[in-house]
Amino acid sequence: MEKFIVDGPTKLVGNVTIAGAKNVALKALVASLLTDEEVIIDNVPQIRDVHLMIEVLEHLGKHCTFKNSTITIKKNSSHTCTVPLEVGARLRTSSMVLGPLLSRYGKAIIPNPGGCRIGARPIDRHIEGLKAMGASISYASADGYFHAKVSDLHGAEITFEKNTHTGTETLLLAAILAKGTTILHNAAQEVEVDDLIELLRTMGAAITRTANREIIVEGVSTLHGTTYTIMPDRNEEVTFAVAAIASTGDITVHNSRPQYLAAFLKALSRAGGGWEEIDTDTTRYFYKGELQAVDVVTGVYPGFMTDWQAPWALLMTQAKGESVIHETVFENRFAYVEELKKMGAKIAYFDPKVKNPEEFYNFNWNDHIRGMHQAIRITGPTNLHNAIVSINDLRAGATLLLATTIGSGKSYLYGIEQVDRGYEHIENRLTTMGAHIERVRGDALS
Ligand code: EPU
Repeated sequence: MEKFIVDGPTKLVGNVTIAGAKNVALKALVASLLTDEEVIIDNVPQIRDVHLMIEVLEHLGKHCTFKNSTITIKKNSSHTCTVPLEVGARLRTSSMVLGPLLSRYGKAIIPNPGGCRIGARPIDRHIEGLKAMGASISYASADGYFHAKVSDLHGAEITFEKNTHTGTETLLLAAILAKGTTILHNAAQEVEVDDLIELLRTMGAAITRTANREIIVEGVSTLHGTTYTIMPDRNEEVTFAVAAIASTGDITVHNSRPQYLAAFLKALSRAGGGWEEIDTDTTRYFYKGELQAVDVVTGVYPGFMTDWQAPWALLMTQAKGESVIHETVFENRFAYVEELKKMGAKIAYFDPKVKNPEEFYNFNWNDHIRGMHQAIRITGPTNLHNAIVSINDLRAGATLLLATTIGSGKSYLYGIEQVDRGYEHIENRLTTMGAHIERVRGDALS
């Protein structure tokens, strides 16, 4: 068991280069299953989820070499259609192999997907879409696996009842080699989906975004290999922007993509956070004086991303006044709140008045847990202090690492494998900017 020991407070100052987007890298690896030819993916972050996905691919008959930030994927001698429980259940995106396996081999057996514990996170929208394309899929509670098969995967016209990011990508990956045309209505617009589409086009896929939230896929008979560089991770950029401003510091971000952060930058400007574009892929984030409370409501693209609300909450603990965060995408994404409260943050849960929650929220309202709140009220500014904190999910983990960095005293963070799932050597990068973070093995509080 590893933990971080963090000695604060630190004003973070320096430079950082944003790594490749986790939420594209994982899907790019799945896309390699659509061909027997060599696929080379550049700008891949060295993170735990990528290593888990490599394990999934190797079980399915690929051979992967991961050097620096480049993964080369080649066909191995044989393939299988089963993702083992011990790998698949630890990685939500492992379920995305359903599409390539069904379209190429007519069969897939995958465990109930894992991932961050930020709600029920079912995959019903993915499954319904695949069924509309001709697949028969059943879940065996006896073994915890989805068993899927199809004799002839075909195109279909599918309307997602609600937004689903990986659901859209799962159906894209299925439709490319299916017979005929697939039309996805109410498809996700997240920029990571578009990066995956670009990659698939370089492999020979025929995919067009025909209207707002509509994608058309014309099935093709084969795909070929490719070399593709994936986009930088916009969630990392937000993390470092908050790191700079919440710590009253100054960080220059390289590989920056402010065009994908419009909702965040708008809120940041209103809060009085400093940022300026230095050139097309460099942005400086800096503290320029007292911060003001700003409310945010999370939403699908181009809204304020759910992944940004935990770091935003930290920023708001440093802002003057009362701010509100209303989470609408996931039903359980405030696990970091109790940990921030241990550090002195003043945060209260409340239930916003919502006329029609079934329609308003992105998660299935049936998954809402009684007594679980969808909003918090933060009163600031507060001087955060040290604590022993546990990390429950990826974005919460990065937020708590920053909180302990700006808070005074020595803190201990447990559950850091959650952070390793999505941030490449984050403690080293923060250390070069002045943070005092030590990764320690074992249980002792020393
Ligand atoms: N949902 C269902 N049924 C489905 C699909 C989704 O009920 O079949 C619910 C989810 O439980 C959630 C909401 O609908 O409450 C939205 O889910 P969506 O499918 O859009 O999210 P996701 O694909 O599971 C991806 C990212 C998340 C990111 C969200 C929102 C990946 C691997 N994950 O999740 O990233 O927060 O989209 O953009 O792409 C992270 O990186 O830490 C992370 C959680």
